[in-house]
Amino acid sequence: GVANPIREVGEIVNKYSDAFYIVDTVCSLGGMEVRVDDWNIDICASGSQKCIGVPPGLALLSVSDKVLNFLEKREKPLNFWYGNFRNWLPVMKDPARYFATPPVNMIYALSEALKIILDEGLEKRFRRHHIIAEAFRAAMDALNLKLIPDREFAADTVTAVYYPEKVEDSAFRSEMKRRGIVVASTLGPLKGKGFRVGHMGNVNQNDITSTIGAIEATLRSMGYHFKNGAGLIAAQEKILSHSSR
Ligand SMILES: Cc1ncc(COP(=O)(O)O)c(C=O)c1O
Repeated sequence: GVANPIREVGEIVNKYSDAFYIVDTVCSLGGMEVRVDDWNIDICASGSQKCIGVPPGLALLSVSDKVLNFLEKREKPLNFWYGNFRNWLPVMKDPARYFATPPVNMIYALSEALKIILDEGLEKRFRRHHIIAEAFRAAMDALNLKLIPDREFAADTVTAVYYPEKVEDSAFRSEMKRRGIVVASTLGPLKGKGFRVGHMGNVNQNDITSTIGAIEATLRSMGYHFKNGAGLIAAQEKILSHSSR
């Protein structure tokens, strides 16, 4: 649920070092602003399955001229056949050439997804993600649930929330699933302490309000107290205040 300050870090990398700036945009590309050239990103790595809205299976990569020049001059062989960009370059320049069999079905799906994205328009798409994220965050505040990241760095594509006391992770997620909504657990040292809700890709405002409704019903069934509908009202107010602007 954290969005790193990619532009600011890129400025520092560019100013103080020759290092390649490698950025993981798996959870942001297509949902939040990512400016590869303006932000000095050398390698931007993403996946098809998140904000782009395609099933998992494609790695999306962009590579700067700085990296390509370095690779061209590199003499030490790389002991990694498929991971060597140099092996991919001929087929990137001319897709009719052979390096490995491409998953053509996935590439058609990607092409369709990109059409959907461009039809919506990038600015509109980012704004939709922002409004939905703001609505969800407002709902969590209204239910007195604490977000895991500092608000300043909260991502607009996924939100991670701490459980209140006495709410147990697997019981919460099973009850949510029974109500038709799948949420994810938190990972690593935070495992069991919170849940994550993905609100990325082609999601809409109805998706987020039904998720908040299910969270309220689930928490109430587990003995957590709050004013009925508080999260839903806060989310709806946020959505309506944005749409009236
Ligand atoms: C920021 C980020 N990077 C990497 C990954 C892992 O992606 P994959 O499952 O395609 O390896 C995820 C998955 O949630 C992610 O959110």
